[in-house]
Amino acid sequence: MTEPVLELSNLHMSFGGLVVTNDVSLSLAIGARHALIGPNGAGKTTLVDQITGRLRPLRGTIRLAGVDVTRLPQHRRTRLGLARNFQVTNLFSSFSAFENIALAVAEREGRGLSLTSMRGFPSDVADQAEDIARRMHLAEVGHRRVSDLAYGQQRLVELAIALALRPKVMILDEPAAGLPAGDHAMILDALDRLPIHVAVLLIEHDMPLVFRFAREITVLAEGMVIARGAPEAIRGDERVRTAYLGTRS
Ligand SMILES: Nc1ncnc2c1ncn2[C@@H]1O[C@H](COP(=O)(O)OP(=O)(O)OP(=O)(O)O)[C@@H](O)[C@H]1O
Ligand SMILES: [Mg+2]
Repeated sequence: MTEPVLELSNLHMSFGGLVVTNDVSLSLAIGARHALIGPNGAGKTTLVDQITGRLRPLRGTIRLAGVDVTRLPQHRRTRLGLARNFQVTNLFSSFSAFENIALAVAEREGRGLSLTSMRGFPSDVADQAEDIARRMHLAEVGHRRVSDLAYGQQRLVELAIALALRPKVMILDEPAAGLPAGDHAMILDALDRLPIHVAVLLIEHDMPLVFRFAREITVLAEGMVIARGAPEAIRGDERVRTAYLGTRS
């Protein structure tokens, strides 16, 4: 069996007296489609913050692509292949979707393009950005300012920027949050088009979306993993229904 591309072992974290991550272990294989679900306040985002390096666990280890990154800063983790979805506020909203993607490509390649010299990207950067835009179904609107796009399309730009980093692992914290239900199909459709080898950890409250996307689900409640398994098993798990599904679906 190949080594997991992301492996959390016995993570533990608290805010003051409140334990928010309680002995959490989780591993993602290459190409995983894994969903992390749980009620509000379960500790999902806190866990993501530990994986990306915004927060430091008190105990436990995080391995990314075979490297112990537990104590590495965020940018080193990015370079090792970790991407998370950006929030709209991180986008240059007066620039076009295409420019945002191309900037991310250039950044990954260490080719600091300044914002003022952006007229005309090097052709290989432009080609990569176009490929990604096409994959995310943004080709038609790529030339429009991000601020002029519908929210759903802005979310696709966020996914495209994460993809521009050529990640091995993508962490998507509520990519459909705040969108009307009618836009969820568009997000699911985009998730379906992520490259097959990228391991994806999806955090989402929309259960139809989760169950259509995930091949494996981990359920977190009060900082603890209370269940893990194939979607059918999770759907039928009594404790999960009580802790979560029963209250939301
Ligand atoms: N910076 C912080 N300081 C103190 N407590 C915090 C901080 N960030 C989060 N918490 C608490 O940690 C717990 C876990 O929060 P977290 O945001 O990880 O939950 P979540 O599972 O992502 O919830 P949601 O589904 O609502 O996004 C909550 O009780 C929250 O109030
Ligand atoms: Mg959260």
